[in-house]
Amino acid sequence: MFSLQNRVAVVTGASQGIGQGIAEVFAEAGARVVIAARNAERGERVASNIISAGGEAVFVKSDISSVEGVDALIATVLERYGKIDVLVHNAGVFPMVTVDDLTEDQLEETFSVNLKAAFRLTKAVAPSMRGSGGGRLLFTGSVTGPRVAMPLLAHYAASKAGLNGFIRAASLEYARDGITINAVEPGFVLTQAMDELVSREEQKQMAMQIPMGRLGAARDIGYAMLYLASDEAGYVTGQSIVVDGGSCTPESGVQLQAFYDSRTSQ
Ligand SMILES: NC(=O)c1ccc[n+]([C@@H]2O[C@H](COP(=O)([O-])OP(=O)(O)OC[C@H]3O[C@@H](n4cnc5c(N)ncnc54)[C@H](O)[C@@H]3O)[C@@H](O)[C@H]2O)c1
Repeated sequence: MFSLQNRVAVVTGASQGIGQGIAEVFAEAGARVVIAARNAERGERVASNIISAGGEAVFVKSDISSVEGVDALIATVLERYGKIDVLVHNAGVFPMVTVDDLTEDQLEETFSVNLKAAFRLTKAVAPSMRGSGGGRLLFTGSVTGPRVAMPLLAHYAASKAGLNGFIRAASLEYARDGITINAVEPGFVLTQAMDELVSREEQKQMAMQIPMGRLGAARDIGYAMLYLASDEAGYVTGQSIVVDGGSCTPESGVQLQAFYDSRTSQ
């Protein structure tokens, strides 16, 4: 079940965090993984760790914030492997700033990396997927935007909500080509980026408010992606799966905490 043997899988933003987790899980399932990222030192390290663990991976330096960067990435991978079976657009930016203070550059970068790249990657890879009878397009969305929101991230929330709109509409256009298009929406996942943004004490408090009692791990997202990338998910398209340990479910955090407290005091 869920084998990616002989599949070529490209993961953007895979030099750290959630992308690294997806790349590792895919390599363990047998995929030839392309680590597409800007930072060569970190990207090479992720690829060599995968190879040391018995997997297959290659680093391709790429910046997906422009059409040229996207086209160069897809051309490089097709030249090397002759096909792309799975493409995961995971790279994302999330500058924390109010709407009042948001600059045009921050707005443009957020939309370009998080949302426009979805269009550009899809347009660039679709001809080869169509030619080989199909493929899997996957996106790392977020619960922020489609389900919940927080201050300082209006631009990010808008980009991720937009991504879900793209997925639903594009899935209809590509269905008859055998290309499925889906996303995973993570809740709070403990990555290096999150570790730098949120203090350890805050992380502990956040974990207590999550029904599963912990922040997510990069691999939690990787396993959901693995399912969506697999043959077994061939009839799933236009969907986004929430992987958040239940964090978006409670109507009231206060009421939930009182419930858990009552259980532990019994
Ligand atoms: N960590 C969380 O709690 C969380 C929650 C919901 C969604 N997400 C989403 O998960 C994805 C990964 O986030 P993460 O937490 O691992 O953060 P991260 O900062 O560790 O990873 C993001 C990656 O994207 C890369 N990237 C950014 N701009 C790029 C560009 N122009 N070209 C190529 N690569 C670029 C970065 O270099 C980095 O490697 C993002 O899309 C993010 O929005 C994260």
